[in-house]
Amino acid sequence: TARAGPGGNAEAVWRALRDEAAHCTRCDLHRHATRTVFGEGPADARMMLVGEQPGDQEDLAGRPFVGPAGAVLDRAMAAAGIDRDTVYLTNAVKHFKFERRGKRRIHARPDAGEIQACRWWYEQERSLVKPEMTVALGATAARQLLGKAGTVAAMRGRPIALPEGGLGWVTIHPSYLLRLPDRARAEDEFAAFVEDLAEAAKLLA
Ligand code: URA
Repeated sequence: TARAGPGGNAEAVWRALRDEAAHCTRCDLHRHATRTVFGEGPADARMMLVGEQPGDQEDLAGRPFVGPAGAVLDRAMAAAGIDRDTVYLTNAVKHFKFERRGKRRIHARPDAGEIQACRWWYEQERSLVKPEMTVALGATAARQLLGKAGTVAAMRGRPIALPEGGLGWVTIHPSYLLRLPDRARAEDEFAAFVEDLAEAAKLLA
């Protein structure tokens, strides 16, 4: 299987796309971020997962979901019976947006213009992968999927027909689970997240 990410025999079209994305100046986020973090996974993946934007660790590593939120996502996917290697993983916005606090880089939410500017890359990925199911992790991803703003609560947990074909599914972002102070609540929310992923995957069967 051709892979769109590192470690595989990416086809020329993927390589060209990634090279072009690496030099993207469609919005200002490239000015401060280390690098573009493009999606990765099998080019023929049936399922696509869309996050918000790379975090600090992803920005340094150049790969999506390799930091703390990625660890939660990995655990949830495993619990839902989804093999990460079969999924195309990407982000709604492909540069890390942050504010500096001393040595630390604190995540900042991408705005509507940045999401829109990055839509080009998302559409390129979709047109190549043509996923049957696309899961939006959080409100920013949902906005990229559906082309309009909305709350996760209002859209969550049901299949949504996407205009370009295939189904979408909206759930929480894994970093939300990392921010919950109450342990019992976090466990409940984690279970609901796993359930969402499993339900979405079931629609592929
Ligand atoms: N959060 C995201 O939304 N995407 C990543 O790649 C990492 C953290």
